[in-house]
Amino acid sequence: MKAISTAKYGSPDVLELVEIPKPEPKENEILVRIKAASVTTADTMMRLGKPLYGRLFLGLSKPKHPITGTGFSGVIEAIGKNVNHFQIGDHAFGESTFGQGTNAEYLCIPESGIILRKPKNISFNEAATICDGTLTSWNFLKELGRVRKGHHVLINGSSGSLGTAAVQLAKQLGAQVTGVCSSSNINMVRSLGADHAIDYTKEDFTETGNCYDLIFDTVGKSSFLESKKVLNKNGTYLSPVLSIPLLYQMLWTSKFSGKKAKFSATGLLPVPKLIAMLQEITRLLENNKIKVVLDKTYSLAEVPIAHRYIETGRKKGNVVISL
Ligand SMILES: NC(=O)c1ccc[n+]([C@@H]2O[C@H](COP(=O)([O-])OP(=O)(O)OC[C@H]3O[C@@H](n4cnc5c(N)ncnc54)[C@H](OP(=O)(O)O)[C@@H]3O)[C@@H](O)[C@H]2O)c1
Repeated sequence: MKAISTAKYGSPDVLELVEIPKPEPKENEILVRIKAASVTTADTMMRLGKPLYGRLFLGLSKPKHPITGTGFSGVIEAIGKNVNHFQIGDHAFGESTFGQGTNAEYLCIPESGIILRKPKNISFNEAATICDGTLTSWNFLKELGRVRKGHHVLINGSSGSLGTAAVQLAKQLGAQVTGVCSSSNINMVRSLGADHAIDYTKEDFTETGNCYDLIFDTVGKSSFLESKKVLNKNGTYLSPVLSIPLLYQMLWTSKFSGKKAKFSATGLLPVPKLIAMLQEITRLLENNKIKVVLDKTYSLAEVPIAHRYIETGRKKGNVVISL
C-alpha cells in the first residue's frame, strides 16, 4: 500500500511517498480502508520533533512510527476474530495516536482503540477531522472549563481547527460567545454562531473593557498574565499550547488564585474518556447542531504541500487528504 513516511525529523521535505506491505488485522484488530485523513498543526510539530520534550513519546533521534497522521475515516475491510462491535462494510472514524499513522491507504487499529461509527450525515473528509479540533475543543470547554449556560466565553483564534469548533460548541453549552479572528474571517466566525467578533488586527481583546468567565486561546497567541485582567472573578484561562510560563501559572493558580490557568493534552486522556466525548460530539453532528469547517483537501502524495500550507498559520478550520 502507499503511505507517507518520515525517516527523520525535519522540514516537509522529509515526507516521502513510499510503498509498504498492507497491514493484516490481528485477532482484536480492525482493518480500515482509509477514505480521508486529517493533516493537523500537531502533525507538523511531530514531523519537526518539536517541542523537544515530545520526542520522549515520539522517538529520541527519529520518529518511532514513521507513517504520519493521526485522524482518519474509512470503510472497514476486515476484522479479527475477536472483534465484536464492528462489521465489514461499516463506515468509521477515529484516531491512531501512538500506533501506525493514518496518511496511508490502510490502517489496523484495535477495537479497544479510538474508533467509532461515522455519523451518516457527514462526509468522510469531515469525519477525519473530528478527533482534532472538535474533540480538543469539547475537552477544553466542557471538561476543563465547565462552560455553562449564561457564561461569557471568548475564543481567541476562532478561525482555526480548534477555534471553528470551539465557537459552535460553546454556543451548544449555552454560552455568550465572542470570537477573536482577523478581518477576513469575521463573517465566517459570526456564521458559526458567535454573538460578537473582535478583529485582532484592529482591537486587542484585553483592552475592550469587556470581561469573560472563560478565555480559550486556541492558538496560544495571548498570555494568562495579560488576559486575567479581563477574566471575571474565578474565571478560567485555557490554552492547548503548552509553554513554561503556562505550566508555572497552572501550578501557581491551582493553589493561590481564584482565576485559573489550565492546559490539557487531549490525546493523552484515557481512551474510554475520549470515546465518551466523541459519542457526545457524534450526537451533536447527527442532530446538525454543529458542523465541521473544511479548508483545503489534498491527495496522499500532496501531504508535504498540506504541511507547508498549515505552517503558514493561516488555515481556516481543517485540512484533509482524500484517498
Ligand atoms: N493540547 C491539546 O490537546 C491540543 C490538541 C490539538 C491541537 N493542539 C494545538 O492547538 C493549536 C491550535 O491548532 P489549530 O489547528 O486550531 O490552529 P490553526 O488552525 O493552525 O490556527 C490557524 C488560525 O489561527 C488564526 N490566527 C493566527 N494568528 C492569530 C492571532 N494572533 N490571533 C488570533 N488568531 C490567529 C489564523 O487566522 P488568521 O489567518 O485570520 O490570522 C488561522 O485561521 C496548535 O498549537 C496545536 O498544536 C493542542
